Amino acid sequence: MDDKWKVRLSIDCDTGIDDALALVYLCALDRVRIEAITSTPGNVDVEQVAANNSALLTLCGKSDIPVLIGARGPLEIPLVTTPETHGRQGIGYATLRDPVSPVPMDSDAIDYWIEAARANPGELTVLLTAPLTNFALALRREPRLPWLLRKLVIMGGAFYYQGNTTPTAEWNTHVDPHAAKEVFAAYTAAAEQGLESEKLPIVCSLDTTERFEMRPDFLTKLSIEAGCAEPEIVQASDPEGTLSKSSNPLVRYLSDALRFYFEFHRHYDQGYIAHVHDYFAAGVAAGTLDYQTRPATVDVETESPLLFGTTVADFRGLWGKPANAHVVVANDPEAGFAELVQRLGALARKLNGDS
Ligand code: RIB
Ligand code: CA
Repeated sequence: MDDKWKVRLSIDCDTGIDDALALVYLCALDRVRIEAITSTPGNVDVEQVAANNSALLTLCGKSDIPVLIGARGPLEIPLVTTPETHGRQGIGYATLRDPVSPVPMDSDAIDYWIEAARANPGELTVLLTAPLTNFALALRREPRLPWLLRKLVIMGGAFYYQGNTTPTAEWNTHVDPHAAKEVFAAYTAAAEQGLESEKLPIVCSLDTTERFEMRPDFLTKLSIEAGCAEPEIVQASDPEGTLSKSSNPLVRYLSDALRFYFEFHRHYDQGYIAHVHDYFAAGVAAGTLDYQTRPATVDVETESPLLFGTTVADFRGLWGKPANAHVVVANDPEAGFAELVQRLGALARKLNGDS
C-alpha cells in the first residue's frame, strides 16, 4: 500500500446531516484515501443520498471519487425515511451545487465492494453509517468479505441504552433489522471459523455516539478557525430556518445543515444540540479519535412487534457464542470536537483559496 496513505476507506452512508459532516471530515484528512462512497436508503431515498454524496464531494474538491448505489430498499420491509430529522433532501437547510459528476443510477455498490476487496486483500477499511442493507447483500455474494477487509466500523445499535427510533431501537438497525441480523450472524460464523479478533466490526452505538453532542458554539469556533471575517453565530433564539451569511462556502453549508439538526433535537426535548453519531464513527475508522471497546456477541430482534430492530449485546458469553463485535464503551468528545474544528477549519480555508 502507498506509504502516504494510512487508511484506504470505503464509506456506505445514508446522507443525512451527520453523514455529511463525517464525509467532509474524511475529505479533510491527508491520512485517508477515500476509495468510493456507496449509498444506502435510510434518512432519505437512495437517489437523494447519492446526489448528496456527489455534491458534497464536489464541494470538497473530490469529485473524482466514485459514488455508487446498491439496494433501493431494505431486505424485507418497506423503506421508511426521516425527513423530519434531516430535512426533505437530507441536508437540513443547506443547498448544494449540482454535482460535477452525476451519479450513474445503475452503479452497483455491492459488486464494487467485492471487486475492491478481492483486488486489495487486507487493505480496505469499510465504514458503515447507514442501515446495513448493502453490506448484508455483499456478504451474501462474498462470504469471505470478513477475511478480505482490513477493518469494519459500524455506526448503529443501542445496548442497554435508550433507542432513538423506538424506546429500544436505533435508526440504522430499525430501518433494516434483517440486514443487521445477517451481518452480525455472518461475523459469528466467521468467528467460529477462526476470523482474527481485530477483523470483527467495531460498533459505535448510541451508548457512546450520543456523547458527541455538538453545541452551536462549534460553528463559531469553526468560522474563526476558517478565517471568516465574521464569526458564525447560531443561537436557539434565532427564528427557525435562519440561513447562514458566512463568507466561506463550507462554513455556510455546515451551518445551514446543522441548524436544522439543532432544531430537530430541540423538537424532541433533547435541547438545542446535535448528536453527530457518524462523525464519531468516521474518526474511529480513520484512526484519529480515541475509543475503548469490549468484545460482545451482538444479535438483532426481527420478530417481536415490541422490540423490532432492537440490538442486544452479550458481553458475558451467556449465549455460549463467540464474540462477533467490539462494542465501543468509551470515547472523548472534547478531544473529538477540537479535532473537528481544526480539520474542517483548514479544509474551509483551503477550499476558499486561503492559506
Ligand atoms: O441513529 C443515528 C444514525 O441514523 C446516524 O447514522 C444517522 O445519520 C441516521 O442514519
Ligand atoms: Ca447515517
